[in-house]
Order: sequence, then structure tokens, then C-alpha cells
Amino acid sequence: MELKGIYQADAARYDQSENLYRRCGRSGVLLPKISLGFWKNFGGVNPYERSRAITHYAFDHGITHFDLANNYGPPYGTAEENFGRLMDDDFRPYRDELFISTKAGYDMWPGPYGNWGSRKYLMASLDQSLKRMHLDYVDLFYSHRYDPETPLEETLQALVDIVRQGKALYVGISRWPLEALKVAEKYLREHDTPLLIYQGRLNLLDRAPIEEGELQFCFEHGIGFISFSPLAQGLLTDRYLNGIPEDSRMARGVTLKEDVLTPELLQKLHELNSQAALRGETLAEMALRWILEQKGVTSVIVGASSVAQLATNLKAGVVKG
Ligand SMILES: NC(=O)c1ccc[n+]([C@@H]2O[C@H](COP(=O)([O-])OP(=O)(O)OC[C@H]3O[C@@H](n4cnc5c(N)ncnc54)[C@H](OP(=O)(O)O)[C@@H]3O)[C@@H](O)[C@H]2O)c1
Repeated sequence: MELKGIYQADAARYDQSENLYRRCGRSGVLLPKISLGFWKNFGGVNPYERSRAITHYAFDHGITHFDLANNYGPPYGTAEENFGRLMDDDFRPYRDELFISTKAGYDMWPGPYGNWGSRKYLMASLDQSLKRMHLDYVDLFYSHRYDPETPLEETLQALVDIVRQGKALYVGISRWPLEALKVAEKYLREHDTPLLIYQGRLNLLDRAPIEEGELQFCFEHGIGFISFSPLAQGLLTDRYLNGIPEDSRMARGVTLKEDVLTPELLQKLHELNSQAALRGETLAEMALRWILEQKGVTSVIVGASSVAQLATNLKAGVVKG
């Protein structure tokens, strides 16, 4: 039997709120330090009730930001479809307490208009996303990646117009190199649609946004920064310290392949795990804390394939400030 309309969010979900949220750059938006990503564990292949339990646990603990994209699943589109189902089943009464993002930029449908950064693609993709998610608007819409062939102004003007159409309240960019980020910041500011946030991969194993300067640029220009794959898809947890579990992302082998787990990396992970133990933390907690301690970071987007994983990850959110 379908259990519609019986989810009641925990009344204590904002009790820790002084310490739960950070201001996103110089904007009016507060985001939870730990956000929840829908990339891999909320698709059509995943048990709906498990995804549902994870989202309930998140929201019950003050996690108000859910991060999606057109191609999350698998299969593509199904994470948004499941989110639409969650809206209908549970979250409609809480819509104004949620900050929902989606993106377009990677391959989504066949032919020349289902990929990259054209106005044609971004506009059509967001319309499709809204239908799948059963939403009138998203809080945040991202260009998912830098397109070296489309004029940046075309992509950026599409973002401006999406906000003017009321289909998104704010815009962000993900994985744009520093020089393109600079162009985006200026263009969007001059068109009254300030860049809210930059999404980049920053974790203990990959510090590119620090080394390349995107994090510092965001900090100096009042743009929020949110880290994706903060646990390096599970490497920065106890998941692979003693082999490759059958139910793990690496065992599925699509975006995290076995050959990344070299003896050198495994040794490094064991060392980090020992450091975490000395601090009385799990490796996952230490890894998330490290990111949240970097100047300019607003939030980390964790993935979790179970409520237990999410519960561990949320402990890192109690870091001060
Ligand atoms: N902008 C972009 O281009 C981009 C790219 C990638 C991701 N993202 C966003 O970032 C989000 C997070 O990415 P991600 O899923 O790669 O994040 P992640 O948090 O680095 O990895 C999540 C995976 O790590 C494992 N894990 C998480 N917590 C654990 C714990 N406490 N103990 C043991 N294992 C744990 C789980 O693996 P198992 O599944 O094996 O259990 C989980 O599926 C995505 O959902 C998406 O919203 C954006």
C-alpha cells in the first residue's frame, strides 16, 4: 500500500540551526554545511524506499539542500523523477523549506541539442527537469560544465533569462576553469543575476580548486563554494580499506574504477584512517571536516547509499563556524 501524506518532519530539525548553516557567499541564502547529492543512489535502479529513508533522515536533521542534475540516476533522469515522487509523497508541504538545485551540461539526449552549453540545450533541459521533479521552479540552476565551443555569453545569458522567467531563483556554475569563472562572475553581476555558487571537486585527495585558484576567487568575490564528491566517491571512508565490498560503487565500476585503488593510494588511505582514529573520528568525518575548514567553503555535497552512512557524515557538520 502507498503511504501518502504521512511523513511528518522531525519538529526538532532546526534545533542545532546556529551551527548547521553557512551563508552562501555574499547572498541572502544560508545552506547547510552538509548537503545531500542525488547522483548515484536515488535513481531508477535504487530501491525507492531506501532513497526515501535517506532523504527523510537528511531533512529531519536540518539538511535543506538537495543537489540534482538532469542526468542523475541511473538511468538518466530517474533521480529527478524519484525526487518528483518524493515531492508528491512527502515533501510538498515543505517546499519552501527546501533549496533544490539541478543542472545541465553533460549528455542527456541524442543529437546536437542534448549536451554542453547552448541556450537551446539549457532552456529545454530545465523545462524537462521541472516536469520530472514536479516543481514550478528550482532554487538553483547550474551550468554543469564549461563548454569550450559555445560562447560563454550565450550560456550566461541563458542563465540570466532562466532567472527572469522565474524557472530558477539563483544560478551557479560547476567545473568552469578560473578564467571562465572570472568572465561568468562579471557577466552575471552586470546582468543583475549575481553568481550564487561555484561547484567544484575539493577533497583530501584532490585540491584542484585551491591549487588553481577558484576557491580563493569565490571567497574574494562573495560567491559561495560547494564541494562535490567530498569523500572521493567513498575512497575517503572505511569502504575500501579491507577489499572491495560487493555492494560498493567501485564494484559497479562505472565512475569509480578498481584501478584507481593502487597500493600507494591504499597506503595513504590507511595513514589517513589512522590520523582520523587519533582524533577520535572516522575517516569520513575527518575528510569532511577538512573541507569545511577551508576558507571560502560553504558546504559539502555528500552522497550516501544508506541512512547509516549519512548519519556518520552529518557528524562532521558540527564543525564550528
Ligand atoms: N558538479 C559535478 O560535476 C558533480 C560530479 C559528481 C558529483 N556531484 C554532486 O556531488 C554529490 C556527491 O558526490 P559523490 O556521491 O561522489 O560523493 P561522496 O560523498 O564523495 O561519495 C559517496 C559514496 O561514498 C560512500 N560513502 C558515503 N558516506 C560513507 C560513509 N560514511 N561510510 C562509508 N562509505 C560512505 C558511498 O559509497 P557506496 O555507494 O559504495 O556505499 C557513497 O555512495 C553527487 O550526488 C552530486 O550531487 C557533482
